[in-house]
Amino acid sequence: MAIILAIETSCDETAVAIVKNRQVCSSVVASQISVHQQYGGVVPEVASRQHLETINPCISQALEEAQLDWDGIDGIAATCAPGLVGALLVGLTTAKTLAMLYQKPFLGVHHLEGHIYATYLSEPQLQPPFLCLLVSGGHTSLIQVKGCGEYQMLGATRDDAAGEAFDKVARLLKLGYPGGPAIERSAQGGNPDAFALPEGRVSRPEGGYYPYDYSFSGLKTAILRLVKQLETETSPPLPINDLAASFQETVARSLTKKTIACALDYKINTIAVGGGVAANSGLRKHLEAAAAKHNLKVHFPPLKLCTDNAAMIGCAAADHFKRGHTSGLTLGVKSRLAVTQVMDLYQKSWV
Ligand SMILES: Nc1ncnc2c1ncn2[C@@H]1O[C@H](COP(=O)(O)OP(=O)(O)OP(=O)(O)O)[C@@H](O)[C@H]1O
Ligand SMILES: [Mg+2]
Repeated sequence: MAIILAIETSCDETAVAIVKNRQVCSSVVASQISVHQQYGGVVPEVASRQHLETINPCISQALEEAQLDWDGIDGIAATCAPGLVGALLVGLTTAKTLAMLYQKPFLGVHHLEGHIYATYLSEPQLQPPFLCLLVSGGHTSLIQVKGCGEYQMLGATRDDAAGEAFDKVARLLKLGYPGGPAIERSAQGGNPDAFALPEGRVSRPEGGYYPYDYSFSGLKTAILRLVKQLETETSPPLPINDLAASFQETVARSLTKKTIACALDYKINTIAVGGGVAANSGLRKHLEAAAAKHNLKVHFPPLKLCTDNAAMIGCAAADHFKRGHTSGLTLGVKSRLAVTQVMDLYQKSWV
């Protein structure tokens, strides 16, 4: 058994959770969205300062809600990569300090492994192998999950991440930040077939296309051109809801096609989706229908576990802890780190 107190501060959520294996005892998420909204996106320095102000109350609240004190905690974990360096440092330094103070094992956690583990919290019986479609603000990947810390990248975006595309298109349509939920709300009142938009494909130098790689920058440019064309050719207002619905539909279709093709080609019959875009109802609808058609299982975490939270970080840490993996107190943060390098966190350390 492993009871882990986990801290997540890689971007704009200060989150602390206590997790017992695959069960959430408490999960506190202090979102900074309202602070960054005025800038239209996350300002790294502001994020770090907010984390500093919020982290201690979040820790107290997580302990209180779980009705535990430090004696009841087996290990302390924090996200150490990838993410905003200043923001990561707040969580990591806090976790290492607490580990020293209370003489507990310390574990650094890879943020994307956390997103993969979110599904285990709602599906505790789930076992590898499965295919993870990871669709977040900074990443869009198809990852074959072979076991704890064992990941193989089968596909990835070559430019924008899916969440980033939602955020950029929302800004273009003046729908505000964060873009994903804003586009989803607007799309509910629009026609998804109103505009035919290009699904991004990644060409192979030798001809043809990479079957599981994504590209969203062309789609974003197509929306920009379409908006400019509509502004000159039609009288206002712009059909914002139709544009949002058509964009969401195109992203959902593209993600679904490649995910299903990948699962079928690799003979993997279970798909788990993770990351903020996993909250999107358009994607859920498309992927669930396509999976049912091909007799594949698909799991989406509950909405609050799709976007950043510390419960998913605790769940990943608990699995590593049970296998005897811990990190050195010299472990530092990294803005970028491939998910295939997760085991480096428990073998090597860097300052
Ligand atoms: N309902 C939704 N539909 C589409 N996108 C959404 C929805 N809710 C959130 N998102 C998008 O998800 C992203 C945030 O997700 P997440 O918190 O997983 O990303 P991140 O932590 O910033 O990036 P990463 O995990 O890659 O470091 C944002 O880009 C946001 O617009
Ligand atoms: Mg994230």
